[in-house]
This record gives sequence, structure tokens and C-alpha cells, in this order.
Amino acid sequence: MHISETIHTDYLIIGSGVAGLRASIELCSKGNVLVATKDLPTESSTEYAQGGVAVALSDEDEIGIHFEDTIKAGDGLCNEEAVKILVSEGPERIIELINWGAEFDKEGLKLSFTLEAAHSRKRILHAHGDSTGREIERVLIKKVSTMRKIKKASFAMAVDLIVEEGRCIGALLLRGKEIIKCFSKATILATGGAGQVYSRTTNPRVITGDGMAMAFRAGGYLKDMEFVQFHPTALYAPGIPAFLLSEAMRGEGAILRNINGETFMKNYHPLGELAPRDVVSRAIVSEMIKTQSTHVYLDLTHLDEHFLKQRFPTIYSTCLKFNFDITKQWIPVSPAAHFIMGGVETDTDGRTNIEGLFAAGEVACTGVHGGNRLASNSLLEGLVYGYRAAHGAINYVEDKQPPSLNDKEVISGEILYMDSDEIMNVRKELRQTMWERVGVIRCGESLSMAKNRITPVYDKLSKVIFLDPLALELKNMITVDLLITESALARKNSVGAHYRTDYKEKFPGWEKHLKIRKRDRYIEIF
Ligand code: FAD
Ligand code: SIN
Repeated sequence: MHISETIHTDYLIIGSGVAGLRASIELCSKGNVLVATKDLPTESSTEYAQGGVAVALSDEDEIGIHFEDTIKAGDGLCNEEAVKILVSEGPERIIELINWGAEFDKEGLKLSFTLEAAHSRKRILHAHGDSTGREIERVLIKKVSTMRKIKKASFAMAVDLIVEEGRCIGALLLRGKEIIKCFSKATILATGGAGQVYSRTTNPRVITGDGMAMAFRAGGYLKDMEFVQFHPTALYAPGIPAFLLSEAMRGEGAILRNINGETFMKNYHPLGELAPRDVVSRAIVSEMIKTQSTHVYLDLTHLDEHFLKQRFPTIYSTCLKFNFDITKQWIPVSPAAHFIMGGVETDTDGRTNIEGLFAAGEVACTGVHGGNRLASNSLLEGLVYGYRAAHGAINYVEDKQPPSLNDKEVISGEILYMDSDEIMNVRKELRQTMWERVGVIRCGESLSMAKNRITPVYDKLSKVIFLDPLALELKNMITVDLLITESALARKNSVGAHYRTDYKEKFPGWEKHLKIRKRDRYIEIF
């Protein structure tokens, strides 16, 4: 295999969303930093985040109340220490962002806070109405651009981590047709979630679970992979992407109706439209089954037209592009895969079980979200835990002898080339399988069917090496498919966002977290 280039950096960050960028800012005073990212620097879930960022900064709020709401949403599975850190360090990270130029919406001179499901206070800061993620990404990229020691490599896809004697010493990157061996003293995974493993998802195309699959192949432990959050309200229309209609719309008074025009949420939960996300998603699926329809409606027509256009400008204009006017029509919606609570297991300083490897943001599982994430907690997570993972990495590098970075052979195994039509066909079918069998509502039978479909493809693809992005993504996606499905099969109870019709309750042992790792050719749940 021809390696085009070998490079050395003190810190390698993989991913340029909120977690990766925030980490890089912290690291640059301690050494050289390389931020490698798969596409344009902005292409990330962060960029598309709408509703806002939750933070206990309003006069009516307290850190303790944010803590309680987060714990409650997590349904008994949160790591309390991680939640305490999130809510108490969150305000400092947000104020710092404002000082760097973030323009959150205001009412007069005061920051404007909105309400989202399962929050007991108005605590969601937003920017330009419904473009909060874009504003955060803008400010972080601008800040990074002033820092000489941070280098950015766009369109550089991480293929695999380089691990020697149990220590991560960098990663192999693919840039065009070039293979780059990047050695680093510490590496931070910030590759985001895995929404693209489902056929209906709000996540952008780049979010294919790469970091989770790479960590798994390298011997990393993954945790809570059965907990996938399905957002209740993504646009539903044939041939149109599952564009998100923010929960903040229900926070501002939007109503759900079934296809007969009947409101239904109060039949499922006393909080109605503002019930926890998993409850709303399941209620929608139940109504869709009951009325034999593909969708329900989100009705905003009773709200002031001027207010809607001003408060949700991006959603208004995007829906209009697809011929839906949110001010005049009920909008067809149904759930879509949105966020994964599980990921690469880390402690609260981003450390994984592999020496020299750290993870932050959606790719990581600190346990902060438990079985279900409280809305708008993940942008905050990226800021707080991106910062902390950077400090974890700094401490590690200061404590340890630098790794010996001789020129090593890092690729071994058969390199396979797959036809792109074949890749796209397999990818499409597997995404559909995940949606139909490992989706909002699961059972042993559906999960076993998915496993039987996924396993032979996994067995074939996991043995070979790919050096083109599409095939690599497929290999990563099939790995994550298997991790989610195996974990969902092993969890024989319903808790948080994981709901099984054959185990509808929290049966004894539900408090146990499931971890998963690679053992030779097999996977082990422990
Ligand atoms: P991301 O922002 O997803 O960034 C991941 C980065 O890794 C990207 O740059 C990607 O290109 C790169 N990458 C991936 N694989 C590789 C690879 N192999 N090699 C190199 N680079 C790679 N959360 C909230 O708190 N509030 C909201 O209002 C909100 N709204 C949302 C709306 C939408 C439509 C979506 C999809 C999510 C929303 N979320 C929201 C969730 C939140 O946006 C994400 O959880 C969060 O932004 C994740 O940040 P991150 O830095 O971990 O990953
Ligand atoms: C939304 O705006 O509904 C998404 C918020 C989130 O995922 O936290």
C-alpha cells in the first residue's frame, strides 16, 4: 500500500463540529493541533442544530433544576457526576462563547430563553430564530482561524486509528487518493453520531458512525448503543429529506393532529405536545398505525404569521421550498432517527479505555444522557466535554513519554474495491432494515431479523480494508448497525428511548448499562 505522506502533530482531532472545534481551541496553547474533517469544516450536525442550547442562565432558572430535568429525561440511567459537570460548567462555556462573538437572540437587552419538551423552565438559548448550531459553528471556526497552531485538513477522512501496544498513536487519513499516516501524542475522536444508519434521519450525510466503528475496531469499549433518540417531527413527504421541524415549535404552541385532524397527545401523556421525545415519537407511531397512515400533522396555523416567520425563518423558508407553508397548512411529519445516547465509553475527562485516545460530543458516551437525552443538551455537551477532553489529553501528554513514532506499517489485510452501485444498494437496504426492525418500536423478533440480515454483511466487510470513502462508510455503518442491534437484543426491558413490545416494562436488572467490545472476530457484551 502506498502511503503518500507521513505527518506528525502533538494533538489530532477527528471532526470539526462543536466538540472538535471547542477542544482544538483549548489545545493550541500546548502544542500543534491538526483538525481532520471528512468534508467541508462546517458539514456536521452542529451546523444544522435548530432549537437551541440549554443552559441555566435565566433569572427563573437554577443549575439544580437543569440537573433534575436532565436526570428525569435519562430515565434512571444518567451518570450523575457527568450531569453535574454539564449543568454547572455549561454557563461558563456559554458566556465564553458570547464573549467570542456568539449572537444569541435577545428580548430587549436580555437573552431570550424558550421552552422545549421535558424542561421545567424556559432555558433554551437560540440564535437567528432557528439557526443556533450555525451561529455556534461560525463563532468557533472564526476563533480557530485566529490560532496559528491549529491546522485544518478538510476532506480528510479518518480510516482507522493507529494503535500500538494498546496505545493510540494517531490515525490513517484518506484525502482524495492520498493515504496519510498521521502520528499524534494524543487523539480526540469528535466524529458525531450515527443517524445515517437509518433510512429516515435528520442527520447530515457525513454522520455515519465512523468514530464509533473505528474505536470498536481498535479495541475500544462502546456503551448504551441501544439508546437511539427518534425526533418526533421530521417533514414527511415522498422524495423529500426528513427535514427537522424543531421541538421549539411545540414549545411555542404547535399542535399535533392525526390524519383525521384529531389532537391526540393528551391521550398519551399529561404534558401533551411537550411530553418527553420518546413518548411523543411512540404516540405518533401509534396514531399512524391506528389511522393506517404514513404521517401525522404539525399544526401551527393558529399562531401569528409574522411571529412564525421571524421565530423560525430557516424552517419557514425550507418548508416553503418543498411547497409547504407552515403559516397556512398543517405540515406532514413523522419520526426520524436524530441522536444516539450511546457511544465510545469515556470518563468525564474524555478518556477512553485505549491509552492516548479521547472522545467528546455525540460520538462519546459519558453517561450524561442516560437512556434519553433532554432536548438541547447536546450542543452544551459538545462545549463542556470538548473542553474537558482537551484538558484530559493535555494532562495525558504531560504525564507520558511521547510514543516512539518510527515509520510503521499500519495497513495489513486485504484491500477490497467495491462497485459504487453495489455499495449504494447494500447501504439503502441496510438503512431500511434498521428503520423497520430496530426503530422507534422494537421486539425480539424484529431485532433477530435485523441481526440475521446484518451479520453476513458485517462478516464479509469487517475482514477487508477499503480505501474509498463510500465503501469505508458502509463498513462503519454495518458495524454500528450490529452494535445497536446486538445491544437492543440484549436489553430485555423498556427504558428511555429503547422500547420493546415483548418487554414493555423495566424488568429487574434494567439499571445495568450494556458495554460492547470486539473479541477476535466476535463481539462481546459485558
Ligand atoms: P458533529 O457536529 O456531528 O460533527 C462531527 C464532525 O466529524 C463533522 O465535522 C464530520 O464531518 C466529522 N467526521 C465524521 N466522520 C469523520 C471521519 N471518518 N473522518 C473525519 N471527520 C469525520 N442539539 C442541541 O443541543 N440543540 C439543537 O437544537 C439540536 N438540533 C439538531 C438539529 C439537527 C437537524 C440535528 C441533526 C441535530 C441536532 N442536535 C441538537 C444535536 C446536535 O446538533 C449534535 O448532537 C451535536 O452538534 C454533535 O456535535 P459533535 O461535535 O459531536 O458532532
Ligand atoms: C430541535 O430543535 O427540536 C432539536 C433539539 C435537539 O435535538 O436538542
